[in-house]
Amino acid sequence: MPVLFCFGLGYSGALLARCAESAGFRVAGTSRREHEGLEVLSFEDEEGVRRALAETSHLVTTVPPGKGGERKISDEEGDEDAVLARYEDALSRIPWLCYCSSLSVYGDHKGRDVDEETPPALPLSLRGEKRLRAEREWQRFAEKNGTRLCLMRIAGIYGLGRNALLRLRAREETRGEEKLVVRSEGFFNRIHVEDLVEALLCAARKRAAGIFNICDDMPSPSHEPLLYAAELLGCQSPSLVSSEQARARGLLSDTAWSFHRECKRADNGRMKRELGVCLRYPDYRRGLEELARIERL
Ligand SMILES: NC(=O)c1ccc[n+]([C@@H]2O[C@H](COP(=O)([O-])OP(=O)(O)OC[C@H]3O[C@@H](n4cnc5c(N)ncnc54)[C@H](OP(=O)(O)O)[C@@H]3O)[C@@H](O)[C@H]2O)c1
Repeated sequence: MPVLFCFGLGYSGALLARCAESAGFRVAGTSRREHEGLEVLSFEDEEGVRRALAETSHLVTTVPPGKGGERKISDEEGDEDAVLARYEDALSRIPWLCYCSSLSVYGDHKGRDVDEETPPALPLSLRGEKRLRAEREWQRFAEKNGTRLCLMRIAGIYGLGRNALLRLRAREETRGEEKLVVRSEGFFNRIHVEDLVEALLCAARKRAAGIFNICDDMPSPSHEPLLYAAELLGCQSPSLVSSEQARARGLLSDTAWSFHRECKRADNGRMKRELGVCLRYPDYRRGLEELARIERL
């Protein structure tokens, strides 16, 4: 039986673990949280984690770049990949590894198309730089050990419990400036968490190697899902403010500002051709419609 270990049973990792179990994998992973029915270890439990890794055939990590062994406090924190820093010696016998990266490695392409061969547009944000460094750490590790490595460059993740409908409802309860939504001039990519998990499972089954953009078919300005969410909920459309105005009024954190400065349309052709992913939610409209329907039940 294939055994999947997931460092980071967070939003995507926990869904991956459940779907992988249904798909016939034995599954374990790390988190500070309990997940009913899943084998969960603490990241710091070196004995337990090493024991599990010795039996692992497929490894996925969703741990973002951060100081070795410490918790990420912000995107600006730390350098090393925490998994490699602590467990590198225990990973060399695992035949397939998958590192969950981010489209931030491409930087700002001013709304142009990017595929997996597109070099980063410099200068990168700190976030993008750290991701790229982490990707390179994993590539060096895989080359040294002859391991098949999949690098997943993931778009903004949404789904049940994390979506524009919920953000809009939360905004309804706020007042004044907090209610404003930033109007983005550029294009942003997203992926429904169920499609992300499908891509991870397709890659695991094929033991795919290489870089894959993981996003849906419809990059669009970041405020559009909120406007559509308002339509679906039948509430008033939020007022829009430009990112420059929002920045000047102290409404955008440095991370959010750097996000708004980076525009591109990621191409997902390789994900479809080589992993065989068939998107259940090819655009945010389908995703939000389904989420609105579920939430109404
Ligand atoms: N969210 C997005 O829109 C987006 C977009 C592009 C890329 N990504 C990347 O894709 C991956 C999955 O995203 P997600 O939203 O599912 O992530 P998430 O919910 O934030 O989960 C991250 C997981 O990593 C663990 N973790 C964080 N720092 C750690 C550390 N220093 N040591 C050990 N474990 C640590 C967390 O542990 P606990 O369970 O204990 O909290 C959690 O299980 C992440 O790398 C994320 O940065 C996300």
